[in-house]
Amino acid sequence: MEIDIGEWGLSRRDQRLWLDGHDLTGLAERFGTPVHVVSASRLRARADEVLGAFTKYPGSAHIHFSYKTNSVAGVLRVLHDAGFGAEVVNGYELHLARRLGVPGDRIVFNGPNKTDAELHAAIDAGVGLLVVDHLEELTRVQSLARRSEQRVRIGLRVCPDISPRHMNASSLTGSRRNQFGLDLPGDEYSTALGRVASSDELELRGVMAHIGSGIHDLKSFERTVQTLLDLHVAAFDAGCSPDLIDIGGGLGTRLSRELTTFELLAYLGVARLPRLGRPGPMDLWARYAEAVCCAMVDGCERRGIALPDLVLEPGRAIVSDAQVLLLSVGAVRERPGAGHFALTDGGAMTVSMMFLSEVHAVLLANRIGSGSQRVDVFGALPSPMDVVYRNLDLPPLRVGDVLAVMDAGAYFTATSTNFGGPRPGVLLIDGDEVRWTRRPESYDDLLAVELDA
Ligand SMILES: Cc1ncc(COP(=O)(O)O)c(C=O)c1O
Repeated sequence: MEIDIGEWGLSRRDQRLWLDGHDLTGLAERFGTPVHVVSASRLRARADEVLGAFTKYPGSAHIHFSYKTNSVAGVLRVLHDAGFGAEVVNGYELHLARRLGVPGDRIVFNGPNKTDAELHAAIDAGVGLLVVDHLEELTRVQSLARRSEQRVRIGLRVCPDISPRHMNASSLTGSRRNQFGLDLPGDEYSTALGRVASSDELELRGVMAHIGSGIHDLKSFERTVQTLLDLHVAAFDAGCSPDLIDIGGGLGTRLSRELTTFELLAYLGVARLPRLGRPGPMDLWARYAEAVCCAMVDGCERRGIALPDLVLEPGRAIVSDAQVLLLSVGAVRERPGAGHFALTDGGAMTVSMMFLSEVHAVLLANRIGSGSQRVDVFGALPSPMDVVYRNLDLPPLRVGDVLAVMDAGAYFTATSTNFGGPRPGVLLIDGDEVRWTRRPESYDDLLAVELDA
């Protein structure tokens, strides 16, 4: 089943795809490809939808956008202006959040292996929640806090051992086979609680878990809430006074999806590209908010405890469908008996590694075309891994065609590499205006770090 292009805010005029009143092919011609195009109005609409959905939480809900999903400053500015805080996972992201004017207490700092310098910067910035991932890190945070003579507000990340359904292993983060968080059967959490309760320099704000990315199994979020509430109660029993619960991010998107384990094996092994399938429900965010809020309210009532604040760190489901990646076809080839190939100016090694584990719609942007042909679409690198998709169904392609890779807002700019040279820029559409919000990298940008060039 084809997704209606209106779902991405697209329309066709004179056969060409338009987004927010702008001709995508025209943008490709004017600014060059590969190029990302992000819609400010779609970001704002999504932010309103999400913030609106969580007004149903009877306590306070705080939404911190996950910087690593898309750290383009212009995207982040729109989201902060709309009301989101920041969730950062390294020193650079913290630096960026400060540069964008995010107050320290609206920043959550995560990450499984922070350096002392990063921890120090987080303490210095007075982040609202410094999430400690393991016992060794707790020791370091404690000694840095002592030295800085500050009381540091920490969270404890736990491993709830929850694996949502229909996911491949590369998108799971909450199972005991992952490296994240304090182990519960191993008593690491209770050991951490004992240490925090008896420390003068640490204040436990709450317990945190993040179980994966691209999740549609809402029950797995409900189970996570129940586990976190049990651990919240255990924290009080140990003498701490937490005031929040942080359930991380992870919600999937409506118009693209993760490959399941079987699909991933079949795709990487024998190039069997699965179908995208029907779009997720229109009210996905409302359903997610309902599931999480009800689990919190019911869980607190059952345990006879006050409602803690609710912290969320979404990324993918905020930005994914607000951004499009445009690629140009530079060559088309046919190998009789082997297939049709199209060579574009970006693939998995250059513009996004996500092509390897997610299914996204790819549309012909400059014309409608007729008929359908299976085509392997590659990037420009001499690597068999530099693939957009194998076995895509598209009208027969021609040199000069422009392809629109949809749902390019999450983990695309974040995972693109310099393997193929300078990385593409990002155009921001805001009403009538279109401008670079991240310019394309230049040769000089790459040379700037080469001290012997
Ligand atoms: C700790 C943490 N929080 C939030 C996120 C954002 O997840 P998503 O983009 O799936 O919403 C991630 C991403 O992996 C993460 O590791």
